[in-house]
Amino acid sequence: MQSSDFGNDFLWGVATAAAQIEGAANDYGKGPSIWDTFSKRTGKIKKGHQPTLACDFYHRYLEDIALVKTLGFKVFRFSIAWARIFPLGHGSINPEGVAFYHRVIDECLMQDLVPMVTLYHWDLPEALSKEGGWTAFGINSWFNEYVTFCAKEYGDKVKQWIVINEPFGFTSLGYMLGVHAPGQTGVNNFFDAALHTAIAQADGAKILRAEVSSAVIGTAFSCSEVVPYTQSAQDLLAAKRTDALMNRFFFEPVLGLGFPTSDWEVLEKFAISHSTWRHQERMKFDFDFIGLQNYFPLVIRYNAFIPILQAWEAKAKNRKVPHTAMGWEINADSFYRIIKQFASYPQVKSIMVTENGAAFHDKVIDGKIDDRERIEYFEAYLSAMLKAKNEGINITGYLAWTLMDNFEWAEGYQARFGLVHNDFKTQQRTIKQSGYWWQQFLSK
Ligand code: NOJ
Repeated sequence: MQSSDFGNDFLWGVATAAAQIEGAANDYGKGPSIWDTFSKRTGKIKKGHQPTLACDFYHRYLEDIALVKTLGFKVFRFSIAWARIFPLGHGSINPEGVAFYHRVIDECLMQDLVPMVTLYHWDLPEALSKEGGWTAFGINSWFNEYVTFCAKEYGDKVKQWIVINEPFGFTSLGYMLGVHAPGQTGVNNFFDAALHTAIAQADGAKILRAEVSSAVIGTAFSCSEVVPYTQSAQDLLAAKRTDALMNRFFFEPVLGLGFPTSDWEVLEKFAISHSTWRHQERMKFDFDFIGLQNYFPLVIRYNAFIPILQAWEAKAKNRKVPHTAMGWEINADSFYRIIKQFASYPQVKSIMVTENGAAFHDKVIDGKIDDRERIEYFEAYLSAMLKAKNEGINITGYLAWTLMDNFEWAEGYQARFGLVHNDFKTQQRTIKQSGYWWQQFLSK
């Protein structure tokens, strides 16, 4: 397998996110984000790590964009920190923040890289969180103000856009389970946040369509094949509920299908209590591509003790199957199947894999960062993707997660997903063997 097997127009890139790499969290006029405040709460982030400095990308973006180029990628995906543009979330603008993203974009263009911008990658301005954040009715107009500004400001230079990164990820972890920022809990918070997010996803896309000529617009979903632990009726139903929540919940509304209510009465009750049918048209958008992000399959068992979902994950470790340092099952066939699942909807025009990658306990051998497990991971996952592509699925690109080791949310700096090692004490970057593997792969 070589990269040219995917065709000459295939977009190969790396993905990053502002809060995970930028640092300069309190500098140059930026307002605090929910991750800045959440990470100060005791016990929320492993080892008490904070994203204040992260990879110091704010000061080192030239070196880092040069690395993207050196590794041979065409696309650099990064996100805009909303609070760097609007320190209070809306209203007055921070010119230094606006200028920073111009510098990043200009450098990509100078290096002949395609800049791909994610508008929302989980770092809500803290000021908006105080007003209720994603649960607040006002969020849709604040978000639209922010998107309109970015589209007008950067739309001449940026054509590739992702509106929202993993809506299920941040609404469930941040508003239901409380393990991500802003640390809220409860199913009501989750459903309020979910409805506003589903609306924002399509609103943002419509704004981009209106403001940016020849924009290529996508939005990115967390996608995990859901497999029942046994063929018992209870496990089958538990798997079905999990699939409705984790894969279909945010995806089907953009296709115009509304929320997937028929397979689970809890979702039906949500739809009734929030009159979601009133928003069905507004949540719909004909996206140019669907961003598919896959890290693991989920094996699901019925469990009566789990409130509401009544389902529980049978962890990879306990099933004794290969897994990453995060405990996530390595299973390239499952990647193939989830691509097929998302592509099976006739409304989907094309799929771009906007994130895929793995954290491992990288070793230093003979002065090199020997991460052969990561190389094997990419070899297996790319050939699974090629199989899907060769069967006729319109896959337009693949972005590896991620350029360099970074702030992995609640896992802090311990989980290393990078193709480039980062020494967080010195900020020294060292290309891992997997980075060199990519360089080779992309040269053919
Ligand atoms: C998906 C998220 O978008 C990204 O921010 C995160 O680091 C990766 N998953 C790995 O957990």
